Amino acid sequence: MTITLSPITSAFAAEVGDVDLAQPIAADDLAAIKQAFWKYAVLIFPDQQLDADRHYDFARQFGPVEVDRVLDTSLHPHRIDPKFADISNLDAQGRIWGESSRQRMYKAGNKLWHTDSSFKYTPGLCSLLYARTVVPIGGHTEFADQRAAYDALPDDAKRKLEGLVAEHCIAHSRRRSGFHEFTDDEAKRLPPVPQALVRTLPESGRKTLYVASHIGRIFGMPQAEATVLIDQLIAHVTQRQFVYTHRWRPNDLVMWDNRCTLHRGTDFDDLRWVRDMRRATVSDHANSCIQEGLAVPV
Ligand code: OGA
Ligand code: MN
Repeated sequence: MTITLSPITSAFAAEVGDVDLAQPIAADDLAAIKQAFWKYAVLIFPDQQLDADRHYDFARQFGPVEVDRVLDTSLHPHRIDPKFADISNLDAQGRIWGESSRQRMYKAGNKLWHTDSSFKYTPGLCSLLYARTVVPIGGHTEFADQRAAYDALPDDAKRKLEGLVAEHCIAHSRRRSGFHEFTDDEAKRLPPVPQALVRTLPESGRKTLYVASHIGRIFGMPQAEATVLIDQLIAHVTQRQFVYTHRWRPNDLVMWDNRCTLHRGTDFDDLRWVRDMRRATVSDHANSCIQEGLAVPV
């Protein structure tokens, strides 16, 4: 069986059919999936039956899977295996979280445009998010194509961005979404890290912006200028022509390239409905400055 590809637009987001991710994947199917992934950056695999092991095994085909550890596990015991980020509105006992729970305040940051794990020195390569329980209204995930947004910039803007390095920090995006309460231990574990503002994707040779709400400053640029530039770039990338909105069905697996897309969750009534998803995040092989041949600022 060879896979079937149904592009959503000619260059961004495609559905993949005729593949069962719960079975070992034939080498030529995996090669076809990878080729499609480097081209479309967002792939949707409908109607998959994935337990934790099958989900993990598929993610492993793309590189090492991160352990999810942002919040202190002594304050927040994991509900699910820490190989996965728990993208749900459930507490450790599996009940809908409380209105003022720390988890809820922290995860509100997922509603800002971001890319996963750019706040880690070796950032995220791709994420694989699997939907177990979805909600009847809202709770979509929007994706924006940072490659197409880069291509659409005027030449002088491209020149101005060349070689710039931004500082990403989870505390920064969380402050933007109203969460100020990292413990000292949490803050120490995730210090700010440098990342290139423009990247080149080795598989396609395409250039891409690499912006996110995790960015706090740009090295060598006055703060007022940097804050405005980052806001403008995020607004540019997330114009509707660069965005695909995924409306979840149960058992969808969606994977995206964190090097060249932004995403955010949309609102839903999270005190009423259960939304239960889990995400495997695959690490890139090196910091983006190193990949771009840029000096890593200290
Ligand atoms: C994620 C994420 C948004 C959503 O899984 O990384 O940001 O729609 N999800 O839940
Ligand atoms: Mn995310």
